[in-house]
Amino acid sequence: MFEIKNITMIYDMEKEEKVYALGGFDLNLPDKGLVGIIGPSGSGKSTLMYCLSTLKTPTAGEILYNGKSLTGLKEQEREKLRRDEFGFVFQRHFLVPYMNSVSNVTVAANGKGEEVKTRAVELLKSLGLGEKELKKRPGKLSGGQRQRVAIARAMMNAPKVLFADEPTAALDHETAFAVMDILKEYAKENLVVVITHDHSILKEADLMVEMWDGMVSSVKEGGV
Ligand SMILES: Nc1ncnc2c1ncn2[C@@H]1O[C@H](COP(=O)(O)OP(=O)(O)O)[C@@H](O)[C@H]1O
Ligand SMILES: [Mg+2]
Repeated sequence: MFEIKNITMIYDMEKEEKVYALGGFDLNLPDKGLVGIIGPSGSGKSTLMYCLSTLKTPTAGEILYNGKSLTGLKEQEREKLRRDEFGFVFQRHFLVPYMNSVSNVTVAANGKGEEVKTRAVELLKSLGLGEKELKKRPGKLSGGQRQRVAIARAMMNAPKVLFADEPTAALDHETAFAVMDILKEYAKENLVVVITHDHSILKEADLMVEMWDGMVSSVKEGGV
C-alpha cells in the first residue's frame, strides 16, 4: 500500500542545530494487516506517521500510496485522501465535550442524516458501547469507552488505512488489549498502523517496524 523511498525529515531547517527526525530509509507497508511501529520516544514514529498520512511533507524522499506519489499532491488532494481513505486515532481522544457519543462519531462523517446516524450506532455497539453510553458525553465515559468512540469516529468513513498514534497510552492494560483486539479485527480487511512504545500490545501484529534515532532498525513479520 505504501512504498517509502529514502524518506528524510529535518525539523528546524533554518536553524544551525538541525533535527533529523527521519534519517533516510526505505520501507514498504502491505495492503492490509496490523503494522506495529515501535521505538523509544523521539525516534521518529509520529513523524513517519504524519508523513504517511499527508499531515506533514518529508524534506526529501518519496512516498507512494497505491503507486501514486503523495509528496507531489496539492493540499486539496491531500485533504480528500485523508477524508476518504485515512482514519486517525490519537493518544488523546479529541472528542467534542458537549456532544454525545453518537454525535461525536457522525460529526465528520461523509453522507447525511439518519443513514449516518444508524451506521454510527451500529459501529459504537459493535465496539462494545451499550445503549446508555450512546447518549453520554465524553466526560461521563470511562477512558476505554472514550477511546472506543474515537475509534468509531475514525472508522466511520471506512478508511482503507487507519493510523493510530499511541492509542492505548492513556489506558490500563486490560482496556488497552480490548482496543487492540478491535484494531486487529479491522486489520483483517484494511491496513492498520499502530505506533507505540509498549511491546506487549503488539503481540498480534503482522509486521513489526522498529525505529531508532530516525531510522528503521528492524522489520519483522509477526508480533513480538
Ligand atoms: N514540530 C517539531 N519541531 C521540531 N522538532 C520536532 C518536531 N516534532 C518532532 N520533532 C523532533 O523530531 C524527533 C522525532 O520526533 P517524533 O516523530 O515525535 O518521535 P516519536 O513519535 O517516536 O516520539 C525528535 O527529536 C523530536 O524532538
Ligand atoms: Mg510520537
